[in-house]
Amino acid sequence: MGYTPLRISTVKPGRELPFDLYIFFKETYLCYTNRGAAIEDEKYLKLKKQKIAKFYITEKDEPNYQRFLDQLLNETMNSPTATTDEKVNLVEGACGTAVERMQKDPESESSYRMTQNAAKSLRQVIANNPDALKKIFGKKASDADLIIKHSLNVSALATKLAEKCRLEDKEVDDIATAALIHDVGIAKLEKSEQDLFKKDKKQYSNDDKRLYNFHVKDAISVLKDKPWVTKSIIDLVINHEEVLSGHGPNKKSKLSKSEEILSLVNNYDKRLITSDKGPKAVIKDMTIDEVGNYSLELINKFKEVLEAEGLLE
Ligand SMILES: [Fe+2]
Ligand SMILES: [Fe+2]
Repeated sequence: MGYTPLRISTVKPGRELPFDLYIFFKETYLCYTNRGAAIEDEKYLKLKKQKIAKFYITEKDEPNYQRFLDQLLNETMNSPTATTDEKVNLVEGACGTAVERMQKDPESESSYRMTQNAAKSLRQVIANNPDALKKIFGKKASDADLIIKHSLNVSALATKLAEKCRLEDKEVDDIATAALIHDVGIAKLEKSEQDLFKKDKKQYSNDDKRLYNFHVKDAISVLKDKPWVTKSIIDLVINHEEVLSGHGPNKKSKLSKSEEILSLVNNYDKRLITSDKGPKAVIKDMTIDEVGNYSLELINKFKEVLEAEGLLE
């Protein structure tokens, strides 16, 4: 039997769960709650605090979980009483679960659909809650969760920048989805190569560059023949490391507005999440290092977004 990971923040206490919930403990999957049961509030709080257990459902229950989560997202996002924190936590859980599933099984259509839905909800939370972006960027990621947190950050911020650039609705949705999956290829690299994510790009040797660039190829080789992945998503993922000077892995120098936005925000967050520098210092570095890589107009718009969202404090 196959198991699929999920984040406990996507399961609400006191609500009947239409699936069996498992934990992975001492190398085995144990059924934690049975279909039709709910997790009590007290138990739930304990679980969240402990962070020791990982939660799973069986592959068979995936559609049941998805329906449950869609309903919960819908309810929470439209609830007049749910706080911004509740909304942000739920949407982070949905995005995290989706990205983790894509890392584990990038071939799966249901993982991809889940990513699309999570991206839409993330966009919605940010658009309707002025504090949401700040709350998202205020949280630090554990080392194990670095890529997942990075993907969420890029999705949240790129969406905001895309809206500021007045891109069409569909283009913004595509950016939000592509941003969540753009680095799934990193999970396919060797452990030592994965650590390149944390290394400053200016320090990359030619070998580092060659190896790191595989994460783009690896993602594309899996996604390109899937009928549910559109060409615009493929283009965004394949070009997320490209820059206008033509020094990216594909040596592409003509980028669509969407591609340039994703590349810029990706570059910014990789620097931010892997160094001790704050947003102000990172932006300053970028205005020096990235001359010719992004249009000045876009960099300035990006700064305006960071400023307006209170992310430069
Ligand atoms: Fe990347
Ligand atoms: Fe990235």
